[in-house]
Amino acid sequence: MTTEKKNLAKLKRIGVLTSGGDAPGMNAAVRGVVRSALYYGLEVYGIRKGYKGLINGNLEPMNSRSVSNIIHRGGTILKSARSSEFRTKEGRAKAYETVKKFELDGLVAIGGDGTFTGASIFYDEYNVPTVGIPGTIDNDLAGTDFTIGYDTATNTAVDAIDKIRDTASSHNRLFIIEVMGRDSGFIAVRSALAAGAEAILIPEKDTNVDGLIKILQDGKKNKKTSSLVVVAEGGAYGGAVEVARLVKERFTHYETKVVTLGHIQRGGTPTVFDRVMAGRLGVASVEGLLAGKHTTMVGLIHNKIAFTPIHEALKMDRHIDEDIWETARILSL
Ligand code: F6P
Repeated sequence: MTTEKKNLAKLKRIGVLTSGGDAPGMNAAVRGVVRSALYYGLEVYGIRKGYKGLINGNLEPMNSRSVSNIIHRGGTILKSARSSEFRTKEGRAKAYETVKKFELDGLVAIGGDGTFTGASIFYDEYNVPTVGIPGTIDNDLAGTDFTIGYDTATNTAVDAIDKIRDTASSHNRLFIIEVMGRDSGFIAVRSALAAGAEAILIPEKDTNVDGLIKILQDGKKNKKTSSLVVVAEGGAYGGAVEVARLVKERFTHYETKVVTLGHIQRGGTPTVFDRVMAGRLGVASVEGLLAGKHTTMVGLIHNKIAFTPIHEALKMDRHIDEDIWETARILSL
């Protein structure tokens, strides 16, 4: 971060949008973008409902008061959407008309893989510089150790699993708990480790019902009287309901219950970690645009600001941390 007010790219006006699934901390990131843009002498427009707003010209100028009292709020004041129209050439052509009409020199797009794919295609077609801020509870982007919202979502999941533990233990039951993560098991692994779950099923690992039943049988031999299993929604079985059905057929030691945590993981007050990261990435995104960056994502690597080309950030080769995975396994005995 530099406090010197340099405007190397000679930008005048930028737009900011949130797109895809919302994530706690997005508001803090919008605040970071708006206030740092003003600090550097730029005008800033808020684009409503993600790329939809860019297509429909749904924009409004923002000032420092537009982002007052939002740092602690979940959701996104700019609203979010998954725009199918922006995936079409015609949709992007309309979006470019808006960029010209409002004389936007650059964009900050806060979202996940879909948001960044859109930004990258848009740059290839129309040269509109975009810096991306990773905002998704799934934590499934390369080029950053964490995405905004992941910490809050795992805290929400752990809070819920702790409550389930109380009743599981009172009734000697097995709970199969489904957490979010379309194609990724980050929330599952971290929340399972923090909540002390017996087993985890995620898409990135060769986890299956056979292995799960072995773990449950070992737990029974070890005199466990209840068990918690965390399943990522995007796993091979398509979620907790199917896993529970298969387990019930072969393991009857406990009564089995299913809980799907669902969208509660997407809401709520962002944690300190998410707010601080969101503020830092907000400032860095504007500094990135000012330094002439485009099709780039700004993230945190080893707690330092890092810029990564969007095509690198989108590589789906981000692996679950083996150390965390192994720790969860060892501690579940
Ligand atoms: O934003 C990520 C995510 O919450 C995934 O974990 C989940 O699979 C998906 O979004 C759900 O999306 P929607 O709210 O559009 O159903």
